[in-house]
Amino acid sequence: MKIAIVAESAADETRVAATPETVTKLIALGAKVSVEKGAGLSSRIPDAAYKDAGASIATSAVSALKGADVVFCVRRPKASALSGVNKGALVLGTMNPSDDQKEFVGLAKTGVSLIAMEYMPRISRAQSMDILSSQANLAGYQAVIDAAAQFDRALPMMMTAAGTVHPAKIFVMGAGVAGLQAIATARRLGGIVTATDVRPAAKEQVESLGAKFIAVEDEEFKQAETAAGYAKQMSPEYQKKQAELTAKHIAKQDIVITTALIPGRPAPMLVSKKMLESMKPGSVIVDLAAERGGNCEATKPGEVAEYKNVSVVGFTNVQGRIAASASALYSRNLLTFLATLIDPESKKLNVDWEDELVIATLLTKDGKIVHANLVDATQAKPAAKKPVAKKATPNKKAAPKKAVTKKPTTKKTTTRKTSGGK
Ligand code: NAI
Repeated sequence: MKIAIVAESAADETRVAATPETVTKLIALGAKVSVEKGAGLSSRIPDAAYKDAGASIATSAVSALKGADVVFCVRRPKASALSGVNKGALVLGTMNPSDDQKEFVGLAKTGVSLIAMEYMPRISRAQSMDILSSQANLAGYQAVIDAAAQFDRALPMMMTAAGTVHPAKIFVMGAGVAGLQAIATARRLGGIVTATDVRPAAKEQVESLGAKFIAVEDEEFKQAETAAGYAKQMSPEYQKKQAELTAKHIAKQDIVITTALIPGRPAPMLVSKKMLESMKPGSVIVDLAAERGGNCEATKPGEVAEYKNVSVVGFTNVQGRIAASASALYSRNLLTFLATLIDPESKKLNVDWEDELVIATLLTKDGKIVHANLVDATQAKPAAKKPVAKKATPNKKAAPKKAVTKKPTTKKTTTRKTSGGK
């Protein structure tokens, strides 16, 4: 079993899909690992470290991929790149299934089994394979670091002989995985932290981190969470009330970090230019939703924009700004999933195509698109009939109502948001 790791081709992608640690473990599982020369450099991993871990270093992507049974990648590969892999090879990565869907037609034709890691069900046994959580967590942390770097005042209160520096007021909008980490990080740095979300469950989580929860808590708010634990699209009336409440609050803040997303929809617009005009000079917005349309009206994706004395940070692929940590966690997510697809006795690939994790994540197989979320792209019904999923083991303790297997649907595409490479 040969596993290939290639250097990412996207210019802004700094992550890599394997580290020396995961290479050692992949070899222990029975694999031969081939890493393209320089693949880990942006994550501070030299070729020698992969070599020491037991990998062979390929001089090009073509030679790394030649005869591969498994390919690990961060972003969706081009179909043309996969011509040398073995028939039916497994390709695991962030496939961004809701974007450029026509590309999946060509990818299917290569005959590979394409696995979209972002479709991993959020159930207890798959927590360690959840790339959305591992990457969003780091993005939430990095958002605060970026805010602090942009802010030309101190974050914590400082009492000095020369006088007192007041703590920064930091408001986090959207308290999912990234938002909660942003709250925790902002608190550690000494800010006075408030947060909002449209899901009622977020209130307790925000308060447990020592931040104050701010929201319009009406009847719609009480129903605003889907069975899968995600936010619903709120009514225009709610959005108006929410905007009125947050406008007053934002006027008093130094830093606003926005992380709000709704699966399958553009990011909600939460911070208007008028709100920015009410902020003090030198205030900072960090918009983690920049890649999905942005939560702030003045966001320019990939840039730090200045709007009337307020800096609006719109970096994309924010987890890629903390590449060494992001690669470490991402590559462990991939390793953990692949380990479930290998027979420990024979040390050979042995995929259970009826496993609910495989069903939920498999996009293409045997030359065809098999995930119904991609039906719109191909104007045809899924080629393969979905096998019946084994019973899920919901993560009752952590998130009782959120455990969900993303069942393929023949309705309109319902793919989730994606990560910064998302
Ligand atoms: P996400 O990235 O889809 O959205 C980020 C946050 O934005 C969410 O909390 C959402 O409620 C909020 N939001 C949406 N519209 C908003 C608005 N108009 N105003 C303010 N906030 C708004 O969410 P993420 O981070 O992927 O988490 C979604 C859920 O999944 C959470 O409940 C999380 O706790 C849960 N989860 C469960 C896991 C498990 O059971 N294994 C693992 C990870 C997350």
